Amino acid sequence: MKQQSLQKSKIKFLLLEGIHPSALDALAKAGYDNVVCYPKALPTEELMAEIRDAHFVGIRSRTQLSAEVIEAAPRLVAIGCFCIGTNQVDLEAASRNGIPVFNAPFSNTRSVAELVMAEVILLLRGVPQRSAAAHRGQWQKTAEGSHECRGKTLGIIGYGNIGMQLGVIAEGLGMKVIYFDVESKLPLGNAQPKATLSSLLEDAHVVSLHVPQHASTELLIGSNEIAKLRQGAMLINASRGNVVDLDALAEALRSGCIGGAAIDVFPVEPRSNNDEFLSPLRGLDQCILTPHIGGSTEEAQENIGVEVAEKLTRYSDNGTTTSAVNFPEVALPEHDGKHRLLHVHQNIPGVMSAINQVFSENNVNVSGQYLQTMGDTGYVVIDIEADYSKALITSLTAIEGTLRTRVLF
Ligand code: NAI
Repeated sequence: MKQQSLQKSKIKFLLLEGIHPSALDALAKAGYDNVVCYPKALPTEELMAEIRDAHFVGIRSRTQLSAEVIEAAPRLVAIGCFCIGTNQVDLEAASRNGIPVFNAPFSNTRSVAELVMAEVILLLRGVPQRSAAAHRGQWQKTAEGSHECRGKTLGIIGYGNIGMQLGVIAEGLGMKVIYFDVESKLPLGNAQPKATLSSLLEDAHVVSLHVPQHASTELLIGSNEIAKLRQGAMLINASRGNVVDLDALAEALRSGCIGGAAIDVFPVEPRSNNDEFLSPLRGLDQCILTPHIGGSTEEAQENIGVEVAEKLTRYSDNGTTTSAVNFPEVALPEHDGKHRLLHVHQNIPGVMSAINQVFSENNVNVSGQYLQTMGDTGYVVIDIEADYSKALITSLTAIEGTLRTRVLF
């Protein structure tokens, strides 16, 4: 059981892996200047030494925050993943220790949508194959098979954050937008929902995939779906690598059944820039291949720095956990003139009544209480107007099932 209440200057942020300076600016703006930065991931032993007295840690994808590392960080209050994925963190161990984990799922939405839009235009103009031919010394100057995007139909599969943004950009360029989603989604602009995947595949000149990785999206596009596309249609995948059957796609491109493709994500991707990229699509000129860079722009990195740093400072300042990936989500008002107590506990019967009993025994009037649970974790935030004694905090911390208590000023 851990008990914490600290002044800002004593709160140590450990930022690893060269997180964008925008994060430092956001922390400074919120009054946090005790920040230790490293340009790379640290070897485990060094990481364990540095994290020991850290209250917040910021990582990207290379730092592994295993249960062992998390347990070696007794003061850790929250973890910020300055990226999209959170697989590098043992989320269960974090929850077990009352530590919320934040990430930046939407900061690169625009970057992906822009790249896809560019690919729509390049594919419709037949640029990939003409560029490849020019590199070989061939001059393919012809208007044949080259089209404007204006007036063509873009079919978006997965009308979420990226799909919607792409639809808006495409409409701005005069495209007709149709979409298919498993959930009912409000269309933006003049986009038209399609009732079935098949009807979208049959109608679109260009199909772009923006679905999540899930059992239901694995090989969503195989030879049967490709066969439903218009003759000469284009296929774009910048979502997840296992959504399209790449052997079937390679075959369809070779046979001329479809006109072109742009693929950014692959079932198996090289672990580093030094490893060879292997794919059945290599050598097909009408296929744009990019190394999973859909969301990789300097703007996205900058946005990620701000988004995650702000989530960490909000949690530190007022206890808000909105969009934490492993933790009950609570959005809290400011607590001017009040004391705010945060209590993270195991989600077991009796904890809340024990908490309320402590307040009543100490004769403390509660002016606001916010409770949320998620899986095995419960999180309650209690605002009190009057001063409190150390004994109150000790009693709260002693309640069976308590993972952590924190006092905000
Ligand atoms: P999102 O969660 O906002 O949207 C996904 C949409 O797909 C939701 O509306 C959902 O209802 C829908 N969906 C789920 N299963 C479906 C199915 N079987 N058929 C049709 N629709 C289905 O996700 P967001 O942020 O738009 O991201 C989309 C994808 O892009 C994700 O897989 C993400 O990992 C990927 N991505 C790729 C990047 C890159 O660098 N290439 C960068 C960022 C995200």
